[in-house]
Amino acid sequence: MPSAPSESSAAASAAKPPLPKAELHLHIEGTLEPGLAFALAERNGVQLPYATEEDLRRAYSFADLQSFLNLYYALMAVLRTEDDFADLADAYLARAKEQGVRHAEIFFDPQAHTARGVPIGTVIGGLARALDRAQENYGISTRLIMCFLRDESAESARATFEAARPYLDRITAVGLDSAEVGHPPSKFREVYALARAAGLKCVAHAGEEGPPAYVWEALDVLGVDRIDHGVRSMEDEALVARLVADQVPLTVCPLSNVRLRVIDDLADHPLPAMLDAGLLVTVNSDDPAYFGGYADDNFTAVRDALGLDEAALRTLARNSFRAAFLDEATRAAYLKELDAY
Ligand code: ADE
Ligand code: ZN
Repeated sequence: MPSAPSESSAAASAAKPPLPKAELHLHIEGTLEPGLAFALAERNGVQLPYATEEDLRRAYSFADLQSFLNLYYALMAVLRTEDDFADLADAYLARAKEQGVRHAEIFFDPQAHTARGVPIGTVIGGLARALDRAQENYGISTRLIMCFLRDESAESARATFEAARPYLDRITAVGLDSAEVGHPPSKFREVYALARAAGLKCVAHAGEEGPPAYVWEALDVLGVDRIDHGVRSMEDEALVARLVADQVPLTVCPLSNVRLRVIDDLADHPLPAMLDAGLLVTVNSDDPAYFGGYADDNFTAVRDALGLDEAALRTLARNSFRAAFLDEATRAAYLKELDAY
């Protein structure tokens, strides 16, 4: 199914190509644009509770994380077949190329699909089909990160991991997402131990709406390699010192933080303070179909709202490759490409 690049990104690429970057915090289900949602609804005979794309877009006004998640999960009803997942990922990759993304580490939420009767093999098979063509079609290297829904039980996460075992050669890392408050990382200690024993990397959303204590737990109980979001870490000086000392990457999502009211105004975002503190911070899009921008749109937004200069933007792009799950030769090649930009 063809994807339609946005006018703004087409105009931007006509001027100067965007900085080469890695996208490390991207939920593939959060790239479901209204046009594709309606096309897939028609293809699968699914009735959406919105008459038009404009009606759907009008629902994109969120009070908090939960109000977004309600719509995000509801719209997944249109994703049913391997082709659907392949089309979804392919549409994202086409947009990512326009945004200067050279490497993408892509989250997916298997439980949100298996709960609707879609087998995990259908989800991973469809995504893998698109990702297998990403280098050739878009010049983008890719990884898959399988997330557990933290508002489901630890047993459900464990069963999901066991169901994914036949496909682990396709999966680089496990992650933890969905409603944060009330669902601390320690709930998932066992399944993370299983994932690590199977040779997977580990990441977790923490410190988005949840307190700094959840970031500590993600580090000390789950042993994560990166923290997703982590903006609330700035409330805890000792935590910042720990993250700086260990150079733990934080995958920050500025437009998401504003849309989900984690931050009141982009001009108040702690990103500059995070950089000044010496944190290994990266900029990402989270759920770009819902939050008003893809990877480079987030770079442009923080440049404009926070006055970040060219050197700061380059640092963010450099950090994205430093924090990526890449072999050292590929990382060096991407850093060289960035230096030559
Ligand atoms: N799932 C999709 N986007 C998310 C976010 N920003 N936080 C937690 N879970 C999510
Ligand atoms: Zn996220």
